Amino acid sequence: MSYSKDIINLAFESSCDDFSCAVLLKNGGGIKILSNIIYSQDFVHSIYGGVVPELASRNHIKASLPALKGALSKAGTALKDVGLVSATAGPGLVGSLLIGLMEAKTISYALNIPLVKINHIEGHIFSPFLGNKEEFPFIALVISGGHTHIYLVKSHSDIKLIGKTRDDACGELFDKVSNYLGFGYPGGRIIDGLAEKGDRNAFKFPLPMEHSRNLDMSFSGLKTAVISAVDNLGGPGKIEDDAVLDIFASLREAAAKILYKKTLDACNIYGINTVAVSGGVSANSRIRSLFTGLEKKSGFKIIFPSVPLSTDNAAMIGYAGYFKPSVDPVKNKEEFFNINADSSWEL
Ligand code: KG4
Ligand code: ZN
Repeated sequence: MSYSKDIINLAFESSCDDFSCAVLLKNGGGIKILSNIIYSQDFVHSIYGGVVPELASRNHIKASLPALKGALSKAGTALKDVGLVSATAGPGLVGSLLIGLMEAKTISYALNIPLVKINHIEGHIFSPFLGNKEEFPFIALVISGGHTHIYLVKSHSDIKLIGKTRDDACGELFDKVSNYLGFGYPGGRIIDGLAEKGDRNAFKFPLPMEHSRNLDMSFSGLKTAVISAVDNLGGPGKIEDDAVLDIFASLREAAAKILYKKTLDACNIYGINTVAVSGGVSANSRIRSLFTGLEKKSGFKIIFPSVPLSTDNAAMIGYAGYFKPSVDPVKNKEEFFNINADSSWEL
């Protein structure tokens, strides 16, 4: 199939432990995902209880060409049809970022295709709108393994941070609790599944910073409260199975409630009733049901990405790539060669 009049966008995402390559198409009918290949490394890191950066980058190297070939072939297209290359340049693990970004730069330079570098968080922020049109302004809640941030988004280029965690990210809280109890990585998904069988009212965990007069959050105190509850019941390995399920359900409830409260506060402060929730933790079923309940009762519009687009993927990077300025490898040679991974790139 040839797409010469349309823009085929080849996108890469490799900021943490997933290597992903996607092909998107933008034409008169909007923006469509033609393919979105994700090589996950959960099995590599699970035994360590978290992502080991050196192992992540080594496995990205192995995945980089198969992911590219798979994405092109699934989309029914070839490199000669590509009109734009997008890649995550930060934030993330520098060794991981470099693999996807350098693959993107190489293709861009060799075939003289403009390159656009994307902030990973920006990819998450707009991911709920993939396939729909953005509705500005909106409040964006980004909840992942490294971020728990609230933004006021007025346009693709006007994004203001208005609240964030002061310590652990919400995904990190789930990952650490799961690890403490020996359930492995990624903890958020494991806890979410097991929490379905527990009683969410069994334990009254604190809602840190619930009444603070700002939009900041904190999750490390909640983590300590959960770990103390586990220890009081005998500790990891000795605690009864039913108590573990209740702890997971009560923890998920406390995390969901605090995220919900702070997001609602943001909506009230800024007079906005459209909310886009994204990032790996947005796959959480209790968070989804709590926010969806808000939509039903009070005229709010709550948008989530589909579950596969909640966790890291290249399609969201390609989507953001259509709205950002690109760099021409020939005309803007100096700027092009200066594009590099930035592990702590802040929006
Ligand atoms: O966005 P993401 O894939 O990577 C980062 O940018 O960090 O998010 C990964 C995080 C991990 O902490 C993982 O435990 C969490 O998302 N996660 C979940 C669920 N699925 C993944 N947390 C809660 N509920 C889930 N269903
Ligand atoms: Zn992410």
